[in-house]
Amino acid sequence: MNDPKRRLIAGNWKMHGSAASLHEAQHLSDALRADPAACRVALFPPAPLIHRMSEVLGDGPVELGAQDARSEANGPFTGDASPEILHDAGARLVILGHSERRLHHRESSRLVAKKVEGALRGGLEPIVCVGEDLEHHRGGDAAKVVQDQLEGSLPKTLDGRRFAVAYEPTWAIGTGLTPTLAELETVHGQIRQVLDRLFPHSPDIAILYGGSVTPANAYDILRVPGVDGALVGGASLKAQDFLAIVRAAAL
Ligand code: PGA
Repeated sequence: MNDPKRRLIAGNWKMHGSAASLHEAQHLSDALRADPAACRVALFPPAPLIHRMSEVLGDGPVELGAQDARSEANGPFTGDASPEILHDAGARLVILGHSERRLHHRESSRLVAKKVEGALRGGLEPIVCVGEDLEHHRGGDAAKVVQDQLEGSLPKTLDGRRFAVAYEPTWAIGTGLTPTLAELETVHGQIRQVLDRLFPHSPDIAILYGGSVTPANAYDILRVPGVDGALVGGASLKAQDFLAIVRAAAL
């Protein structure tokens, strides 16, 4: 991987997990206390588990985040949670613009940019997701789609702030498919160019890769130039698998 300051392995539990799975978080935290990771490590459970997980993790080696947040601080928004509420519950990071939100909740890049502003106000570090679908991938348009999403989803106010970008081609999420290592290097290089242009005062933005990362492919993926870490879905649910990915970041 690249600059150690940027390294981050993030586990997105999506709508999985229960109170019983908190012991997976405990197991991960204990293992990393005994043998520290060579990167930042963060878990993103469903929102109702955040508070209990923050009690399990304490101020240990595993950071905690939310999978989404509304942009406003409070208001008549039934079912939603604001960055401030999530921060109170113990979250310090937030995933924004995940393709499942863009797809199922019709979230536009414009809305994602508003959510990023809200996250900064509420004290959450954003991880902003971008990535092309299969049609654009096949059409050779990945770079254009990703550039448009970056320009639309990342407000100027991010400059100088700590945040990360996750490149997650939608066709790789939960499918067992991944881009070739050469494709990954190309897209991550293109993303870095866009970020350097948009955010000259944020040299340490981590660019994560997400989509079917497993213990079997993590080592190769994390060694691709320009890949600073991973956003892991399915393989983050079991502490043992997730730990193997975290360890692959150090080898
Ligand atoms: P996956 O999901 O690892 O299960 O493919 C990744 C993500 O959606 O963040």
